[in-house]
Amino acid sequence: MKYTKLGNSELSVSRICMGCMGFGNAATGQHSWTVDEAQSREIIKRGLELGINFFDTAIVYQNGTSEQFLGRALRDFAKRDEVVVATKFTPRTQEEIDDGIPGQQHIENYINQSLKNLNMEYVDLYIYHMWDYHTPMEEIMEGLHNIVKAGKARYIGISNCFAWQLAKANFYARERHLTEFGSIQGHYNLIAREEEREMAPFCRDQNIAMTPYSALAGGRLSKRPCETSKRLVEDSYAKFKYDSTAEADGKIIARVAEIADKRGVSMTEVALAWLLTKVTAPVVGATKISHVEGAARAVDFALTDNEINYLEELYVPHALVGVMAQNGKQKAGNVV
Ligand SMILES: NC(=O)c1ccc[n+]([C@@H]2O[C@H](COP(=O)([O-])OP(=O)(O)OC[C@H]3O[C@@H](n4cnc5c(N)ncnc54)[C@H](OP(=O)(O)O)[C@@H]3O)[C@@H](O)[C@H]2O)c1
Repeated sequence: MKYTKLGNSELSVSRICMGCMGFGNAATGQHSWTVDEAQSREIIKRGLELGINFFDTAIVYQNGTSEQFLGRALRDFAKRDEVVVATKFTPRTQEEIDDGIPGQQHIENYINQSLKNLNMEYVDLYIYHMWDYHTPMEEIMEGLHNIVKAGKARYIGISNCFAWQLAKANFYARERHLTEFGSIQGHYNLIAREEEREMAPFCRDQNIAMTPYSALAGGRLSKRPCETSKRLVEDSYAKFKYDSTAEADGKIIARVAEIADKRGVSMTEVALAWLLTKVTAPVVGATKISHVEGAARAVDFALTDNEINYLEELYVPHALVGVMAQNGKQKAGNVV
């Protein structure tokens, strides 16, 4: 495994971040395809053996059970100060808004719950999961600074935002000596490259770490057309994100398979090796031990410049999908 600094922070992270959205109690959460605690523990343990020290979860993943599984596994298989744990909080609920709970209190409540789920005293990276148009940005930045000061989070990151939103928040924080976002978790992979337009150059300029999610397009960049899985069949949210561009994307995926065959590696290695040339640490999901092994191998696999050009050649701009499509529909600067 190789390691790198997470942006301007002191955190040394593995080049692969283990995404934990696929871990959790399938009976209670939003996904039917997640793996149970025993399987999750095996995958986490194997990831640690392979040198992965960076883990990403969220309070909303399977009603907190992803955080719980991760926390228990890390407690049993790792030392707390040798792993980097990231979790995320979502916007205020309508109930919280109706009850007059301000952004600062919302963040305090959510991190307390996440720390309880993880059974940890602090997280290394606390991530604003998606832009909250119903809570003033000032309250979010103050609330995040408060939990850093309290020692509940070492650093903060953001996810699913536009570059202008990250710039606005960080320059607000900088002027007031508050904690700035040090990482962005956006949707970025070989068939979703909209982050290259504004976000990637901004991050390079500011040394903000890019830790993109769905690095394998929910498995589409790892599987041949003949292969399937429980998730490919049941993950309707991912289908909604990728199905409408499947024909054009299929041609890029075919090139991933072609290079994999030529070089004698898996498609996962090719797709991740490409992303590793662009970002700090992709967040990669796994529902099997072999998945995390493939991701770890990608770190030692290098594509030639010609192969990179060949993989990039067919991409055409895509509409934003998933959370970013909703973000795009909101009015800039609108706080209700
Ligand atoms: N911030 C956000 O809004 C956000 C959104 C989504 C995800 N995330 C984070 O990003 C992580 C990764 O996202 P993701 O799960 O959507 O995407 P992903 O990493 O693109 O896809 C993971 C899926 O790829 C398949 N896979 C992985 N390695 C494979 C291999 N070697 N061979 C065949 N298939 C392989 C598995 O699919 P099968 O199970 O089908 O085999 C696995 O579930 C999540 O766990 C979460 O931590 C964040």
